[in-house]
Amino acid sequence: MDKLLIRGGRRLEGTVQIVGAKNAALPAIAAALLSGEKLTLANLPDVVDVATMLTLLGHYGVTTERTASSVTLDAGAAQNAEAPYDIVRRMRATLLVLGPLLARFGTARVSLPGGCAIGARPVDLHLKALATLGGTIDLDAGYINAKAPGGLTGARIVLGSPSVGATETALMAATLARGETEIMNAARDPEVADLASCLVAMGAHIEGAGSHRILVQGGRTLRAARHDIVPDRIEAGTYAIAAAITGGHLELTGARLEHLAAVGEALERTGVRIWPTDRGLMVARDGALRGLDITTEPYPGFPTDLQAQFMALMAIADGASMIRETVFETRFMHVPELNRLGANVTLQGTSALVRGVKSLRGAPVMATDLRASVSLVLAGLVAEGETVINRVYHLDRGYEALDRKLVRCGADIRRVA
Ligand code: EPZ
Repeated sequence: MDKLLIRGGRRLEGTVQIVGAKNAALPAIAAALLSGEKLTLANLPDVVDVATMLTLLGHYGVTTERTASSVTLDAGAAQNAEAPYDIVRRMRATLLVLGPLLARFGTARVSLPGGCAIGARPVDLHLKALATLGGTIDLDAGYINAKAPGGLTGARIVLGSPSVGATETALMAATLARGETEIMNAARDPEVADLASCLVAMGAHIEGAGSHRILVQGGRTLRAARHDIVPDRIEAGTYAIAAAITGGHLELTGARLEHLAAVGEALERTGVRIWPTDRGLMVARDGALRGLDITTEPYPGFPTDLQAQFMALMAIADGASMIRETVFETRFMHVPELNRLGANVTLQGTSALVRGVKSLRGAPVMATDLRASVSLVLAGLVAEGETVINRVYHLDRGYEALDRKLVRCGADIRRVA
């Protein structure tokens, strides 16, 4: 297993190219199953989770032609099959094939995804949405069996909470359901809006994506299309915090500040400067870092996927910060590891109290989930001495060439097998 050796203390300066969003690429790949014609997705990130999703679609007979950063998917000859547990257990997002399979083939059998380091990750909202569209769903032996022999029928879906995945499942299934579907309390994330624009390019009729109410006129046959994946706001937020924590400055080309409004506002309040440029956005910090209280919330609130990274920043801020995690129940796996690096974080239920310390000291630490892992990299960039991060495969799931990008901005990072 690879590990990263980081020697802290270097300011990051330079430019980072932000790639397409993993969490927009995954549902867009699943959407290829809805159509018998080719779907070309450009600006795909080169990350393990995308490769896993493409492997899964191959399992259904979807052919893929890859170029540098785009893939053309052809589900014309796709057949229904069973999503095998060994692929599904690797990544929860494989659940996103359930809606398209049911809508296109009238049946679907997908393994229940396991939980993961950040929580139980139930799927009840996905299943309820498909049942509302006329699917009959039952669970047996760890599998979801979904049936809609006469096809799906448009309906009013009211989501119990603005789940990103459940919104995407409902949206994709609704494009093939007969008649109109209204999705209430939909997730408003840019990745949901991006999936909708991919479906519209394929011929779907969708209004209101990106708001809490989405309207779909379903029942159309979808056709060949090409779609550019939206830039990754979580990758951009991660590098913005890398600039802030090292007291450097980075231009993030391709990044869209409007997708990071809550993060930009929080960073400004800690003393970091962040502003749009014509190529993306710029982040710089040359003064003191002030502690700040934040609460994670569904978009457009502060994203849970940047909570661990922000905690690493607050670990060296002046004063204390209270970080409340309201989206996932146990997304604090990074806390004991940050404390090994000299941070002073105490957990109180769904909140973490971070008391800023003067400096962190390098140590061997263990990565657990994707965003916890990258928060350890950020802490390592500023810790005195050497930080060794094991189980780096977590990073490769969602960050393209992270160590190479950081080295290009001046970081002292080596990847060793
Ligand atoms: C998506 O996960 C992202 N993954 C996550 O990013 C992200 O953290 C999350 O949205 C929240 O923004 C992808 O898009 C592939 P949810 P998802 O459904 O769809 C509960 C990363 O690091 N819930 O919005 O699984 C759930 O338990 C990953 O890139 C139900 O109760 O998130 C959680 O507490 C991590 N029932 C909350 O809703 C359901 O049926 C939010 O989950 C579904 C979800």
